[in-house]
Amino acid sequence: MPSRPLAAILTLGCKLNLADSEEIARGLRAAGFDVVDRPCEADAYVVNTCSVTHVADQKSRRLIRSVRRLSPGAAVAVTGCHPQSAGFDAVRATGADLVVGTRDRDKAEIVAFLLDRQHQGLSPQHSALAGSHPGDPAIRSSEAPAFRHTRAFIKAQEGCNDVCAFCIVPQTRGREESRSIAAVVAEVRTAEEMGVREVVITGTQLGAWGRDLAPALTPHDLISGLLSQTEVSRIRFSSLQPQDITPGLLALWEDPRLMPHFHLALQSGSEDVLRAMRRRYTAAGFAHAAERIRAAVADVAITTDVIAGFPGETEADFEDTLALCRAVGFARLHCFPYSARARTSAARMAGQVPPDVRRERMSHLLGLGDELSLAFRRCSGGRIRPVLWETERELDGAMAWTGHSDNYIPVVMAGEGLRNRITPVRIGAPLGDGVRGEAAGTPL
Ligand code: F3S
Repeated sequence: MPSRPLAAILTLGCKLNLADSEEIARGLRAAGFDVVDRPCEADAYVVNTCSVTHVADQKSRRLIRSVRRLSPGAAVAVTGCHPQSAGFDAVRATGADLVVGTRDRDKAEIVAFLLDRQHQGLSPQHSALAGSHPGDPAIRSSEAPAFRHTRAFIKAQEGCNDVCAFCIVPQTRGREESRSIAAVVAEVRTAEEMGVREVVITGTQLGAWGRDLAPALTPHDLISGLLSQTEVSRIRFSSLQPQDITPGLLALWEDPRLMPHFHLALQSGSEDVLRAMRRRYTAAGFAHAAERIRAAVADVAITTDVIAGFPGETEADFEDTLALCRAVGFARLHCFPYSARARTSAARMAGQVPPDVRRERMSHLLGLGDELSLAFRRCSGGRIRPVLWETERELDGAMAWTGHSDNYIPVVMAGEGLRNRITPVRIGAPLGDGVRGEAAGTPL
């Protein structure tokens, strides 16, 4: 039995949740726990949930129940967006001992609660959790690098003041609140000291960063601050909107420490649907922003989110979406069938698209996403890109390493001792959702 109690943090949802989980992990470690990010025998659990769709809600409940069922005496704390939308009492009924929201004070409460339970001796439990969805792709254990010292997710901003018709996130994450440059810089420096090579700066509405500070600042100020006040090898800025893409901001990407990867959520390529969604850009404006990014940042990967079957979406609207996706040439599409969320205006809109039509459009989008991703990887073939190596896996019967290029292509390459190193790699043939790589020089 380990001398330090063990806490398992299981994370669903987006990069914001990963950033929150890493912060909770740091708190638990400082309180004396060992922390892992996968289901296993543990004394305490943190389930960090998501509520973006009905499926996300279901997965969240299933994960809480499975932890509780398989480890009846362990302390289980639940956080994330699901309690905010489903209600705290409903989540308690699934077997959680503590249910909190998504704010900073909630993270401190989790740590204090689990520590208290540990002192009371109500744990440890050593029930086998091997059957609790260890292979569920939604459990983002492979992307929680604070535990692995390669990539860290750092939150710069929380909340959203927009009122997009479909979105539950303003309800689950609250009003916009930016962290100061000094606070973000301090967190990046701590990550650097732990050996982290890449930081992913996250936020609910990252383009709104700084608006609520006094004096008001912009993402340009935040990125400039990070470039001048930290030395971390790679900075990835997790998501922006087309209206955030200014010439001044793009000029910052001349610094090779900023990764050539932009995530801009499109949601729809139809002007009518975007207006009904209450997005703050047009399809034409989106295409223009993508062009400006391409002109300024060589070999850039532009990735996106798209919703299939928003209320009122016609076949012609959907065709517009497919056409815009092709025109932009996204490196990756994250697609979701529209899911009506309680207390959103879209849930009450006329023209709800039948579920079978949503599913059909979704499968079209998935097919297009595969096609575009393959095209991007093929187009990168033969180029030399820096790759940060993260995890070991088997390839052709031998051990190999997987990592991500600067423009976010998953790469696998034979080699030894590459963990947490950044090396130049010649991009080779597509393999799975990534590519094979070939060493192309000495480590950077
Ligand atoms: Fe899910 Fe909340 Fe993120 S709803 S996608 S965890 S902001």
